[in-house]
Amino acid sequence: MIEAALAENVGFVFRNQDLDIDSFERFATSIGDFGETPFITPVEGHPNVLRVIREPEETGPLFGSGWHSDRSFQLRPPSTTPRYALQVPDAGGDTAFTNQYLAFESLSESMKSILNGLKGIHSAKRSYGPQGTFGRPDPKASMEIHGDETAVARQVHPLVRSHPLTGRRSLFVNEVYTVGIEGMTNAESSTLLKFLFEHSRQIHFTCRVRWAPGTLTMWDNRSTQHFAINDYHGSRREMYRITLAGEQPI
Ligand code: SIN
Repeated sequence: MIEAALAENVGFVFRNQDLDIDSFERFATSIGDFGETPFITPVEGHPNVLRVIREPEETGPLFGSGWHSDRSFQLRPPSTTPRYALQVPDAGGDTAFTNQYLAFESLSESMKSILNGLKGIHSAKRSYGPQGTFGRPDPKASMEIHGDETAVARQVHPLVRSHPLTGRRSLFVNEVYTVGIEGMTNAESSTLLKFLFEHSRQIHFTCRVRWAPGTLTMWDNRSTQHFAINDYHGSRREMYRITLAGEQPI
C-alpha cells in the first residue's frame, strides 16, 4: 500500500511520468481526499490544484523557500503532498527535504523527555499575514498569493507527533510556521526552537530532489520538512501541486 510505504520512507520520486492535470488529480485522489488550500489562487477549473510557477524575470520572494511542513498552521495539516513537474531549469531549482523521524530519534533521551510534554504554536502570519512575506498581492508575481488577517490565527500541535500509520515519532517543528512554544517566554521558546530548526536540517537528515519534466514526487508532511532552493534566476519552473487532507497531530 503506497500510503504505508510513504509513511515509512518520508518521500517518493517517480521519474518519466506522463500526466495532465486530470490524471494528476486522479493519482492524488487514489491516495486520499483533497485538503484545504487557503491564500493561493488555484488553477482555474481545478480548485484543488496549485500551479507552483516562477518566470525567468521574477525577483520577488520565492514560494516555499524556507524550511516548512505544508500548512502546519491548520488544525489538520495535510498528510501528503503530490507534486508533478512540467518545466524545470537546466540547472538548479531542486527541493530539499529533511527526515523528521531521524531528527527526533537522534536527540538525547533527556531532550526527548523535555520535548514530549511540549506544544508548538503554529501560525501562517510570517508568510500570509498582512506584514508577512506574501501579505500583499504582487502584480509581478506569476503565482496569485493573497495573504490576509486570518493568517495570524494560531494552532497548537505537539512538538513531537506520532505518525498514524507507522506509530513512529517525529519532530513537528518548522521555521516558517512554528512561532512559539506554549507556556514559554519568547526568549525560552526562540532558543529551543532555533536549536530544533538547526538540528533538523543537518545535512545527514536531508536529501534533495533534482527535478526533470515528468518527475512526480509525493512527500509525507508529518515526517518531513521541505525547502525550495532559490538558485535558478533567469530560468522558468512550473509544477502542479495538490495537498491531501490530514488529521490533527497527536
Ligand atoms: C513548496 O511547495 O513548498 C515549494 C517547494 C518547491 O517549489 O520546490
